[in-house]
Amino acid sequence: MINRFSVLACAAIFVSLVANAQPGEEVPFITSPDNVTLEMLTLAGVKREDHVIDLGSGDGRIVILAARRFGATGLGVEIDPSLVQRSIANARDAGVADRVEFRVQDLFTTDLSGATVITMYLLQEVNLQLRPRLLALKPGTRIVSHDWDMGDWKPDRTTVVPVPDKQVGREKSSKVHLWVVPARVEGLWCGTGLLRDASLKLAQAYQAFDGTLTWRDRKRELAGQIAGAELRTPAGRQGELVLQASGSELRITSAQGNLALAQGQVFQRAAGDSCN
Ligand SMILES: C[S@@+](CC[C@H](N)C(=O)[O-])C[C@H]1O[C@@H](n2cnc3c(N)ncnc32)[C@H](O)[C@@H]1O
Repeated sequence: MINRFSVLACAAIFVSLVANAQPGEEVPFITSPDNVTLEMLTLAGVKREDHVIDLGSGDGRIVILAARRFGATGLGVEIDPSLVQRSIANARDAGVADRVEFRVQDLFTTDLSGATVITMYLLQEVNLQLRPRLLALKPGTRIVSHDWDMGDWKPDRTTVVPVPDKQVGREKSSKVHLWVVPARVEGLWCGTGLLRDASLKLAQAYQAFDGTLTWRDRKRELAGQIAGAELRTPAGRQGELVLQASGSELRITSAQGNLALAQGQVFQRAAGDSCN
């Protein structure tokens, strides 16, 4: 059960630490324990092909573990130059200096476009400031945050890790939240090929979508979830429908019932407010 007092106490202590932060720092230096760091990377499913960016990288531990344990490449950005020096030395000691980079940089100016995974142990208000930029990243980019969430952008998954000697707040555990950046599909889509008489009007709230598929004189209401680039309706009476978003295209990759013949067909994002 969520303990309101401990949540407030945790926030109060963390915020009082913020008051002691150096100029230019929004968040003080507190390390994620090793088991939390491992859980962050495991929940994000980090693999060799991934590029992990840790925003506010402290002593470099997240990026270093991503390279050492999972073979990924990484970038840590940190406002405190002495922590960047320490991270570079730690990476050398861990034998991963060729796979990771550390920069003295304000995380609000960091180019995030090369990341496949972003890790953060910041504060909720900092997460919220970053949220529009995170939502604009390539669909499928994974974001993990230690303890702090992102308001009404609900995580796809949250796990809880025991931290018996936790210094912040009263809980002796940490939360790890995962979000997968959903494709941005809100708007009007126009059918092509077999579906040239069809249109698809979608609304979106983060990972949820709903809308109407109109084909000649028929209408079908749709609602479902967006996982990265994939939109999926539940397998109900009309059967499951799966679409794949790619730039200005939405392709039907799986369809059942009277849409079965439309498998492989493509919608294009409408140039204006109609498909005609
Ligand atoms: C809570 S610590 C997390 C360190 C590390 N990511 C971890 O989980 O162990 C937050 C870090 O963010 C850094 N930081 C604060 N404001 C920053 C900013 N604007 N740009 C870059 N780093 C910042 C702090 O110096 C601190 O090292």
